[in-house]
Amino acid sequence: MRVLGIETTCDETAAAVVSDRLGMDGGDILSNEVLSQIAQHAAYGGVVPEIAARAHIDVLDRLIARALANARVDLADIDAIAAAAGPGLIGGVLVGLTAAKGLALASGKPFIAVNHLEAHALTARLTDHLDFPYLALLVSGGHTQLVAVRGVGDYRRLGSTVDDAAGEAFDKVAKMLGLPYPGGPQIEKLAQEGDPHRFDLPRPMVGRGGADFSLSGLKTAVRLEVLKLGAPSEKDVKDLAASFQAAIVDIMIDRVRGGIKLFTEGEGRPSGLVIGGGVGANGPIRRALTRLCAESGLRFVSPPGNLCSDNGAIIAWAGLERLKRGFTDDLDFAPRPRWPL
Ligand code: KG4
Ligand code: ZN
Repeated sequence: MRVLGIETTCDETAAAVVSDRLGMDGGDILSNEVLSQIAQHAAYGGVVPEIAARAHIDVLDRLIARALANARVDLADIDAIAAAAGPGLIGGVLVGLTAAKGLALASGKPFIAVNHLEAHALTARLTDHLDFPYLALLVSGGHTQLVAVRGVGDYRRLGSTVDDAAGEAFDKVAKMLGLPYPGGPQIEKLAQEGDPHRFDLPRPMVGRGGADFSLSGLKTAVRLEVLKLGAPSEKDVKDLAASFQAAIVDIMIDRVRGGIKLFTEGEGRPSGLVIGGGVGANGPIRRALTRLCAESGLRFVSPPGNLCSDNGAIIAWAGLERLKRGFTDDLDFAPRPRWPL
């Protein structure tokens, strides 16, 4: 089976073709076209919804054509068309969803509305052999959640952020430090040369039960340090980046530990821990989770960085998983700017 996947929920326009493997686990990515809009939003320090929607319109049809061409298939060779129907910026979601519905209508193929978070949660099954149930840590610019993945379409949220998403915290702190958007990669790079112990930053929620996250207090603490410093030097910025990242790593580990406990109480033993979302590309977070999983006797599945951030292959794969189970959608499926798993 082959599925075309379309992603337009945030600031990446993406289209991809993914196929399954006869009688085997995992899938093959036949093409994966991603066009980032970062340059168009950079001057504003974040994603501007109106600019995002217009930019998706400008490039999506060409990107879909390229995804089909690079996969060496025609629309006739595709078994279903999937699009991320949310959660995300409504203008962008509308663009991708409408394109997918149009193609489905014109070709007579099934249409599948994919939850963007579900796509991040299922990516590990595209790249690796992983049985249900497992624990997924979804950390991106808009979301921070721990989810028990019990099956396709069967999720239980164990914890989520009560304020900022992890990527949002990275981006806001980067802005305070005078670094360009998106801040995560910048902070990771500068932190390598910084002293993670110089600033004593808070670790909200750490040591508490449950698996919820809170990151706004940490962000405010960085702001206060910046104000105290006045005009931070290059060294100050590196030390703040390192101290902030160290705090995030401690928070992640403690909260994931809470998630593993909740999971074990509710579902039994997870078959592994999966990370998804742009922040999942962060090296220190990945290494800390690798250690935690080794200690807990859990398998850690971390898809490559380009499949952690937004792309069409993860939408196509989630579509394929749904198609195999007969989950298709009607063409009047409405976009869902908010769509909790
Ligand atoms: O999943 P994603 O590509 O888009 C959303 O759905 O939000 O995630 C983007 C977020 C941004 O906030 C970005 O700063 C963060 O992921 N990010 C990182 C890293 N790379 C991207 N955060 C920390 N470390 C990184 N290496
Ligand atoms: Zn995402």
